[in-house]
Amino acid sequence: MAIERTLAILKPDCVRKGLIGEVTRRIQEAGFHIRAMKLIKLSKEEAEGFYEVHRERPFFGELTAFMSSGPCVPMVLEKDNAVADYRKLIGATNPADADEGTIRRLFADSVGENIAHGSDSIENGLRESAYFFAEHEIVANG
Ligand code: CMP
Repeated sequence: MAIERTLAILKPDCVRKGLIGEVTRRIQEAGFHIRAMKLIKLSKEEAEGFYEVHRERPFFGELTAFMSSGPCVPMVLEKDNAVADYRKLIGATNPADADEGTIRRLFADSVGENIAHGSDSIENGLRESAYFFAEHEIVANG
C-alpha cells in the first residue's frame, strides 16, 4: 500500500460538542499522521466552494449553512491507505447506518450533522487539502 493524503474536517457540531480532542485522539490512535491542522470559521461562500460538487443536491443549502454555522477543524492526514481507512474510521455518512464503534455512530446526530468529513478518493484528498492549506503549511514526514 502507498502513503496517501486525505482531508478530514471536524465539523461545527464536533466543535460545539467539545469533541475536538476526543475525535483527534481516535484519529491518531488509528495511525494517521496529522500534517496540517487549524480552527477556522468558513463563510457561506467558502462552504459552497468546498462542496461545489453537491451544488445541485437538495441538501446543498442546509449543508453549507451548517458548515458555516460555527468553527470547524480541517486537517490533512497521511498514512498508508489513508482515504479508505479514514472513511472506515468515521463510518457511513448517515450515523444510523454507520458500524458500531465508528466516530459517526458514536457521536453524530444526523446525516447532515455528522461530526466529520473525509475525502472520498485519492484525487479529492489532494484537491480538498489544497482548498484549506498551502503546500508550505503541510508539514512533511519526519
Ligand atoms: P460529507 O462527508 O461532509 O460530504 C457531503 C455531506 O453532505 C455529507 O458529509 C453529509 O453531511 C451531507 N449530506 C449528505 N446527504 C445529506 C442529506 N440527505 N441531508 C443533509 N445533508 C446531507
